[in-house]
Amino acid sequence: MYRKITRLDGRLVGFASSPRPLNGRSIVTPFKADRLKSYRLNRWFGNCTTKHASDAPRTIFSGIQPTGVPHLGNYLGALREWVRLQNSATEETQLIFSIVDLHALTVPQKCHMLRGWRKEMLATLIAVGLDPNRSTIFYQSAVQSHAELYWILCTIASIGYLSRMTQWKSKLQLPDDVTLENPAARSELRLGLFSYPVLQAADILVHRATHVPVGEDQRQHLEFSRNIANTFNHRYGQIFPAPKALISPARRVMSLKEPTVKMSKSHSDPRSRILLTDSSEDIRKKIQVALTDSEEGVTYDPIRRPGVSNLLEILSHFDGRTCEELVSEYQFASLRALKETLTGQVSDNLAPIRERYLQLIANKGGYLDAVSEQGAHAARANAEQTMSHVRNVMGL
Ligand code: TYM
Repeated sequence: MYRKITRLDGRLVGFASSPRPLNGRSIVTPFKADRLKSYRLNRWFGNCTTKHASDAPRTIFSGIQPTGVPHLGNYLGALREWVRLQNSATEETQLIFSIVDLHALTVPQKCHMLRGWRKEMLATLIAVGLDPNRSTIFYQSAVQSHAELYWILCTIASIGYLSRMTQWKSKLQLPDDVTLENPAARSELRLGLFSYPVLQAADILVHRATHVPVGEDQRQHLEFSRNIANTFNHRYGQIFPAPKALISPARRVMSLKEPTVKMSKSHSDPRSRILLTDSSEDIRKKIQVALTDSEEGVTYDPIRRPGVSNLLEILSHFDGRTCEELVSEYQFASLRALKETLTGQVSDNLAPIRERYLQLIANKGGYLDAVSEQGAHAARANAEQTMSHVRNVMGL
């Protein structure tokens, strides 16, 4: 049952669900010519207010920064899971993936480099197996609602909560327990970097995501997103689902040169990471010089032997066996033999990705531009559905 909602001038602007939800606020669905769209939306928002929210169709959303070709950590920690989720999704599951170029601006960027990196990332997402006809893939900056919702969420985000988060500290190379009183923090910290988690929450919430597949390093941001969704819903009515983090089994792939820190693009030594487009020869060289230790034999002990354990973990993500099972096979083998097996596995798994990537990047027919346009179009329409609700409940 829906009640009509009219403006002061009597014009019909939408319907409110009836009876009113417990918090006293109505869920208003904008009146659209397209009744089917409107019905789907009612069904979705209706479900959110019931205790059977888990029965609602899933919306899977995730994002990645445009850092050019991603590394093995991005692949195992996120991209491979995105493809698995896509390939096993039911028909009504929505899959939305964004190349988050606005986030990239929180550190200084060179214009022509960023433009190239966005395209390389798009080519890689398709090369790993995302299908643009099944998954929506788009550049964040092409969908302005992300920035609009970011501003709205800024009005409820707590500075205290943001100041306890770790990312701005690690980007400024400050210790985790530093506060905003710290002189280096006061002079170096920019508002964009400090409020980065708010934009990330907007990315997720503007698409009404229910599930967000990420690596372990994003857990804190996901908790913040849930928190801000709940705060907003408490104040304005049940608009956003509380998104769940889907943490990949490859929670944290470590650097090959410094195995106590995660593999990342910001490490000064390029041999610390394997890129998805590295040739077999590049992969062999990088694994050969990966930092291990002088102990003989292969054992799994991430605290005492982080280097060897990291190699075992990477192997296990490709091979499918647990680290313990691998140890029982390799315990008497040399580290060299372990590295050779790993080189073979990584090369074999990445070779088809590299091949597809090279074809895509060489294509001058505008295929990648067409994919990003199609994705932006679909993402804009989806985000706009949320924003019309948000504006409505906020009196805009
Ligand atoms: P980003 O671009 O740093 O990383 C993209 C994804 O890769 C995962 N990842 C790793 N997983 C395992 N081991 C590693 N060494 C490793 N390095 C990276 C990350 O966990 C992530 O899933 N803030 C995000 C981007 C973002 C986002 C979002 C993500 C913006 N908005 C909304 C999800 C939802 C980031 O910087 O990811």
